[in-house]
Amino acid sequence: MKYTNPDLDSSYRENNLGKDLYDAVLEHKPKKIIEFGSLYGYSTVAMALALHELGEGSICVYDLFESYMYTHSAHKHTSQESLKKGGLRYYLEAFIMDIPMWLHPSRNMISRRQVRTNLEKYGVSNFVTLKKMNFKDWIKNPEPFDMMHFDVANNGDTLRALYEAVKPFVQAGSHVYFEGGSAERDSLVWMEKHGLKKISESGVPYRVVNENFPSLSVIERV
Ligand SMILES: C[S@@+](CC[C@H](N)C(=O)[O-])C[C@H]1O[C@@H](n2cnc3c(N)ncnc32)[C@H](O)[C@@H]1O
Repeated sequence: MKYTNPDLDSSYRENNLGKDLYDAVLEHKPKKIIEFGSLYGYSTVAMALALHELGEGSICVYDLFESYMYTHSAHKHTSQESLKKGGLRYYLEAFIMDIPMWLHPSRNMISRRQVRTNLEKYGVSNFVTLKKMNFKDWIKNPEPFDMMHFDVANNGDTLRALYEAVKPFVQAGSHVYFEGGSAERDSLVWMEKHGLKKISESGVPYRVVNENFPSLSVIERV
């Protein structure tokens, strides 16, 4: 199917980074894609549209779904403007976003069913399986893949841990794309506030594919 910028909440949406993921799938023609972190399914839909265009391949999505502890304002802060701003306005916005969750505790949880519905809306559900899995467990016994998209609120430490696990696959020709990698993304308010390691200081060899916020990068074979 031809690409369209998926109309799903995502920090990728504003700068249409789904197009880079779509193009990467068309370029590499992966039979097996693994994705960590789907949220509402924006990146999943972007890649699945390309699989539909190719007529084959599958995406195995691993996510924590409703078990992810930040399934509230942290998730809804997907716009470039709100992610970058700190201070009182950011927290006030977060507070207002959380009110419906307090009134109806299950309402803002992102369930597997909700992601499935979003995939169906784009006619790509058949290409995707959704499984609950923590990437910290997956890296203990990693499985082979042709392409990966990694997006779990990344920082330098998570990326380093992933790299140690996927290095043999990258050496063998697998492609690992991940959210972030630019200087702008490394200096986000929540990264600095929580003292998280910058991706650029992780020691992982990578190249930024698209600098536009929040940026998309790919691990390089060395
Ligand atoms: C930034 S969102 C992903 C955004 C999505 N790729 C998009 O296109 O909008 C991060 C996702 O990672 C998931 N997540 C967070 N920590 C995780 C972990 N340790 N293992 C697996 N998934 C995780 C969250 O549940 C959430 O859905």
